[in-house]
Amino acid sequence: MARLTYLSHSGWLIESAGYKICIDPFLDGNPLAPVSAKEVKADFIIVSHAHGDHLGDAIPIARASGGQIIANFEIANYCQAHGAQTHALHIGGAHSFPFGRVKLTPAWHGSSFPDGSYGGSPAGILLTVEGKTIYHSGDTGLFMDMQLIGEMNPVDIFLVCIGDNFTMGIDDAVKAVELVKPKLTIPMHYKTFGLIDVDAGEFVGKLHQKKFRASLLQINQSYDF
Ligand code: NI
Ligand code: MN
Repeated sequence: MARLTYLSHSGWLIESAGYKICIDPFLDGNPLAPVSAKEVKADFIIVSHAHGDHLGDAIPIARASGGQIIANFEIANYCQAHGAQTHALHIGGAHSFPFGRVKLTPAWHGSSFPDGSYGGSPAGILLTVEGKTIYHSGDTGLFMDMQLIGEMNPVDIFLVCIGDNFTMGIDDAVKAVELVKPKLTIPMHYKTFGLIDVDAGEFVGKLHQKKFRASLLQINQSYDF
């Protein structure tokens, strides 16, 4: 059994087979974060893109816990230069780690570091642990190839951005679910700040009307799978 915990925004903690894997740990400077970066230990930290609300505290967490950052080549280089252990991947590529397999998917977005330097292509993340595949959309607009991602990698849990303004909003995210056809959908990237303060309950309701399984995970709430 594995455990998925919502760290708010696009941040998640996955515990599986004795490993702790963080995705997009934006904690310090995030008004909704349930824990501070100091309180998080991670063996692996997966980063979808370089924006501050996703790269977040990946480097300090990796340095403090000796964990490895998994991200695109440009982000891996940047993090390595800042003293973190890294493993570089790029879009379409997958690698098996001790905890499971990670593959980067396309995402339509930008990716610059807080200092404005280039962070490579933004990504979505396919993470397979204990035979279950999680698809973390990253920050993205809607794109038709999500259908291909779902066909090639049957998705058990779809963590999808819904906050609008910078990413898909509710209706585009509903369409994304129709393309990906996951077994369960959980929304993310909403409410953290005013521009993305959408009603996640409306999103879940629209999915239920279309007979898709969807749940809200409260911040710091866990889901076992
Ligand atoms: Ni972003
Ligand atoms: Mn973002």
